[in-house]
Amino acid sequence: MTESTHLTGITTTGTPHLGNYAGAIRPAIAASQSGGCGRHFYFLADYHALIKCQDPQRVRQSVREVAAAWLALGLNTERAIFYRQSDIPEILELSWLLGCCAAKGLMNRAHAYKDAVQANAQRGEDPDFGISMGLFSYPVLMAADILLFRASEVPVGRDQIQHIEMARDIAGRFNHIYGDHLVLPQARIAAGAAVLPGLDGRKMSKSYNNSIPLFLPEKQLRKAINKIKTNLLEPGEPKDPADSPLFQIWQAFASPEQTQAMRAEFAAGIAWGEAKQRLFDLLNTQLTAPRARYQELLADPAQIESKLQQGAQRARAQAGPFMQQLRKAVGLCRVA
Ligand code: TRP
Repeated sequence: MTESTHLTGITTTGTPHLGNYAGAIRPAIAASQSGGCGRHFYFLADYHALIKCQDPQRVRQSVREVAAAWLALGLNTERAIFYRQSDIPEILELSWLLGCCAAKGLMNRAHAYKDAVQANAQRGEDPDFGISMGLFSYPVLMAADILLFRASEVPVGRDQIQHIEMARDIAGRFNHIYGDHLVLPQARIAAGAAVLPGLDGRKMSKSYNNSIPLFLPEKQLRKAINKIKTNLLEPGEPKDPADSPLFQIWQAFASPEQTQAMRAEFAAGIAWGEAKQRLFDLLNTQLTAPRARYQELLADPAQIESKLQQGAQRARAQAGPFMQQLRKAVGLCRVA
């Protein structure tokens, strides 16, 4: 029986928010802490960040913040291998080999690229306006991330499933040409992952500008929670949990019993102000300790860096020999 290998990347653009935590960080950390079941790779996808962000200061800052968040929230870096993509040169090398096996037509169908082309068409622009090669070949780089570590399971959000299928497709072609070297990965929707609504009720996302940063200082956290959209129902009027972002956020952080209790409060007409106060208390209780650790880590970037270097070393110990095998497989090796 082969052991399963789990791998996932976090694009480092921006500051981690509650939605990232409930959707990706929390389930990944839980998996890193539970004994048994496979090997875990988590990495900061800073090459991917360059596709969306060309502000060096922001890229640097985001890598720090995301790394600090994962460490502060209790990622077990003994069990999981935690590294920065750009510390692993083998990823870029494999990316080229894969790019030479990936059909351009397949990349044409990638959602992110197609959406950009369509947006250009709607604005009457040239179809390629503002589209970089980085955006176009994004799925090839992502395939390299995954295939280099022979990941069998890739926990991702639904929007990433297509990319995993592309990685399978590219791996299949590589194997067909060069022999059976690459493991075909599978997308997994992480167990316990929640899709969180943002302040306005749409999915919480930095691109919608509706997110609540995970480690806001207490006062600002309270302020942000007060901005969550509600309706005009008065205290005493029953409220519908199903269309309340406030309730959904509650549910993602509360125990089943607490969720039941809040459901009853909604039926009994809890005032919005009171519901917000309770949500603040719930979140603040859970976040106070990791927030302090997060601030500590940010104040000591060398500590973050040392963790990342340890991770890179472990990752490269596997990537190096495997990349050597692949170089040989495609005919890139010393002639004598
Ligand atoms: N593209 C992913 C996202 O935006 C991040 C990512 C990069 C990733 N490389 C990966 C996820 C490899 C899983 C596996 O969410």
